[in-house]
Amino acid sequence: MREAREYAREAVLKVADAVSGGEVVPIDTAHVSGVSYLTIGDHGVEFLKRLASLGARVSVFTTANPAAVDTGGVLEVDRRTAEAQREIIAALRALGVSVVLSCAPYEFVLVRPRTAHAWAESSAAAYINTFKDAWTDKVPGPLALLSAIAGFAPRTQLYTPEGRRPTALVRVAFKPRDPLEAGIVGALIGERLGHGVPYVSGIRLPDEASRREFAAALSTYSSIVFAVIEGATPNWAEYARAADPGERIEIEGSDVQRLLRCAGVPDAVYVGCPLADVETVLWVINEVARRGPARRPVYVSTSPAAYKLVERQARAALRLNVVILAGSCLVVSPHARRLKSIATDSAKAAFYISRLHGIRVSLCRREDCIKLAYA
Ligand code: F3S
Repeated sequence: MREAREYAREAVLKVADAVSGGEVVPIDTAHVSGVSYLTIGDHGVEFLKRLASLGARVSVFTTANPAAVDTGGVLEVDRRTAEAQREIIAALRALGVSVVLSCAPYEFVLVRPRTAHAWAESSAAAYINTFKDAWTDKVPGPLALLSAIAGFAPRTQLYTPEGRRPTALVRVAFKPRDPLEAGIVGALIGERLGHGVPYVSGIRLPDEASRREFAAALSTYSSIVFAVIEGATPNWAEYARAADPGERIEIEGSDVQRLLRCAGVPDAVYVGCPLADVETVLWVINEVARRGPARRPVYVSTSPAAYKLVERQARAALRLNVVILAGSCLVVSPHARRLKSIATDSAKAAFYISRLHGIRVSLCRREDCIKLAYA
């Protein structure tokens, strides 16, 4: 065990030498990505098993991203994927990781402003930076795990007040009405700036699902994992005073409409990237129940914890052709490759599903996605 802790400490210090002048920062929590066999393959499995066999244990509270297989056993995957996924989960458990299988661990982990964390999932890192002012970089998956064992992470720019100063001003001349529009605004800011820390004014995100989509899309279409939103980010006024903007951009309603690509009849509908909260899961089930069984499957990803709360409704929804995926998603599961086209309300899912699985994707409002399940 000591040997494992030493190995992790040395590895993190080596990375720190390369990326933060050797400086490190103690962390309160960690979140590891690279949990799906689809994304880490056999080398990833071996890495985790080796760490576990050395007796390594995380020294801070650590959570894990979704896997290739859902905990309810609905997704069909090949035998090797199923077996490797079990090995990954067993190794993570042996390492002391809380296997919540969620990319929205902020549902369970109440991170306080100005505390340091090592979170590997970009959407979650962007969420806690932007909406909690909790400090994390987008830490690569293996480094997040090694940092969790060591108890510290390289002190890169986002762990410093100077590195969190806004570098660009963004004026949003448009009011997002739903999570899809919020996600598209995030994607546009990311696409236009590419990096840095945007200070965003003129925007009010209508609900929790919109905050999740905004953070996920922003960090998908750029390397940005922290935006200061006027009136929403804790300590935003302080960030406004510290801003040193080199760039100014404006997002208009016409830009948002341009990215909406809702066309054609899909093989399936997908909601829940990042994983849907209980409210969204129930909304989808009720919306389909109102119309009767859907002609095409409606997949909804959620965390195993949220699934437990709605298990009775989720099981009954299978008869309506609503498939609730606990702890997995159509991006990190090979199950998606059985489909040729998908309609989704998530800008992040649209980006990755088309690139990773070669599937045609329609980006539609959630209500329109549901309608397409009957087309
Ligand atoms: Fe989460 Fe899968 Fe999207 S891990 S952010 S639902 S790609």
